[in-house]
Amino acid sequence: MYEALLFLHNLVRWLVLLFGAWALLQPGPRPGAFFAHTLTLQVVLGVVLAFLSPLFQGALASLQETMATPGEARYFVAEHWVGGLLALGLAHGGLSQARKGRPLARLLFGLALLLLFLSIPWFRPLFRL
Ligand code: HEM
Repeated sequence: MYEALLFLHNLVRWLVLLFGAWALLQPGPRPGAFFAHTLTLQVVLGVVLAFLSPLFQGALASLQETMATPGEARYFVAEHWVGGLLALGLAHGGLSQARKGRPLARLLFGLALLLLFLSIPWFRPLFRL
């Protein structure tokens, strides 16, 4: 179950980025909905993954030590999900603006995409095949 979720979370990242780029280039309701909803799925997968991940749970169990030691464990416990959640808010804000036909949509989609690029653990495998 854990491996399957890690595989999906890894893969859905590419869909999120693809739809994010689409929403940025054509900031309408349809691309925006694909982006925001795929990102919602990714966040749900991430939250479930955090419960099942030995890395994340181990890091939580010794939180003081985790926070005092820069590295992968601290990155996942303290940084990764924060960027994901902020991007989620921005993408849904963008969708709402796109539905009203407002030009602010593009800025919000762009900021969400930028935050995603900064929050993705690029040191991990690009694909898990
Ligand atoms: C609340 C939001 C999120 C949570 C709680 C979360 C949680 C996690 C956790 C716990 C891991 C490491 C699992 C492990 O190695 O045991 C992980 C890895 C990863 N996350 Fe997230 N995540 C979130 C959002 C996102 C978003 C928005 C993206 C990209 C669009 C993303 C992309 C990735 C990638 C690419 C990995 C590496 C997967 C691998 O090693 O194959 N995550 N995430």
